[in-house]
Amino acid sequence: ARLRAMNGPLLAWYEEHARILPWRENPEGYRVWISEIMLQQTRVEAVKPYFERFLEALPDVASLASVEDDRLMKLWEGLGYYNRARNLKKAAGVIMEEYGGKMPEQYEDLLKLPGIGSYTAGAVSSIAFGHPVPAVDGNVLRVISRVTASREDILKASTKKWMETHLRETMPRDRASHFNQGLIEIGAIVCVPNGQPHCAECPLESICLAKRHNLMGEIPVKTPP
Ligand code: ADE
Repeated sequence: ARLRAMNGPLLAWYEEHARILPWRENPEGYRVWISEIMLQQTRVEAVKPYFERFLEALPDVASLASVEDDRLMKLWEGLGYYNRARNLKKAAGVIMEEYGGKMPEQYEDLLKLPGIGSYTAGAVSSIAFGHPVPAVDGNVLRVISRVTASREDILKASTKKWMETHLRETMPRDRASHFNQGLIEIGAIVCVPNGQPHCAECPLESICLAKRHNLMGEIPVKTPP
């Protein structure tokens, strides 16, 4: 019930406050995929120039599938975690072979590709194709833990599974893209980590149980392994 109560305020807020970002201009499958992989371990401001350069050099799945490894590594140089780039090329090969070069739309198909986990599969399927599937990353884990005052460890796979299951049921089926991006955006710029969230700017303040009980410093729970 608390999750469903997020829908209205979250969508209204996102539609007013969404940052203008290069991959949001034309959210087609390939662009969303590349941006989400880059954003996994790299900050938005750092990703922007890499994203523009990468898309100019490799504008579609076919060009990525056939790029020379040296060229790919040059395009990725500075972003780190080079396995992300290797997996992108591998997945592009699979998309050429098995999907005729067209980015798959369905969550389950995306999940099978190298380098794509539940978060990225949900992000691409919802943002590029509008399918009502959740996209739970670290930002979303933090926001939902706070709204529900959950003390479940967000590093546990079962916590993420729980959230994915419930969000899938409560998210607005026809506005999945903005819903998911709204949650990510709140986590990135409002409901920030370390007990100093900007609650006064948050559209979820009035329904947030962590705020009500002053638990922002204690939630989310993150127990190192
Ligand atoms: N971080 C991860 N995905 C993002 C997105 N689509 N927009 C902004 N920040 C993000």
